[in-house]
Amino acid sequence: TRIAIFASGNGSNAQKIAEYFKDSSTVEIVLILSNKKDAYVLERADQLGIPSYVFTRSQFNNTHEVLDELKKNDVDFIVLAGFLLLIPEYLVDSYPEKIINIHPALLPSYGGKGMYGEKVHQAVCEAKEKETGITIHYVNNKYDDGEIIFQARVALNNNDTPEQVAQKVHRLEYEHYPKVIESVINN
Ligand code: GRF
Repeated sequence: TRIAIFASGNGSNAQKIAEYFKDSSTVEIVLILSNKKDAYVLERADQLGIPSYVFTRSQFNNTHEVLDELKKNDVDFIVLAGFLLLIPEYLVDSYPEKIINIHPALLPSYGGKGMYGEKVHQAVCEAKEKETGITIHYVNNKYDDGEIIFQARVALNNNDTPEQVAQKVHRLEYEHYPKVIESVINN
């Protein structure tokens, strides 16, 4: 299976996924794409020896250039890892049940447009939640809305800062996302 990873920022999940499949004979991360030309994930791609592709929101929403790049690389499956744009209909339709995303909270809570990264953990802290977690789900053309594949939870204590919550969530992401990807592409 030839996987493309979309990321808009740091790319720590993208790196963990690439490292997990490094020695695989059946799964290859063939492309890392970003809508931010200065995203650190592009540095990581270079260090990992994975080709990368940068595009603008306008290209993504108004052309099929990204789709053409995916097809040129024979991409079978798309993984979103900290990617902040809505996936346009043409892309969802081109990869039916073949796009998954990770959200750093227990959807449907703390999801939807605008709820990403630190904002999620701040909201969880402000609400004094006793737990949070991750949600891995299929992607459709609404934010954080597709069929849920997997969730994992972690306990919080009420003096956890948003940074500490983020750390606990990242640990869950790194532990589970690669394995969930592997199980989804093999089912
Ligand atoms: C992760 O917490 C992910 O769940 C969320 O954005 C963050 C991306 O972090 N969608 P990174 O870019 O993988 O380091």
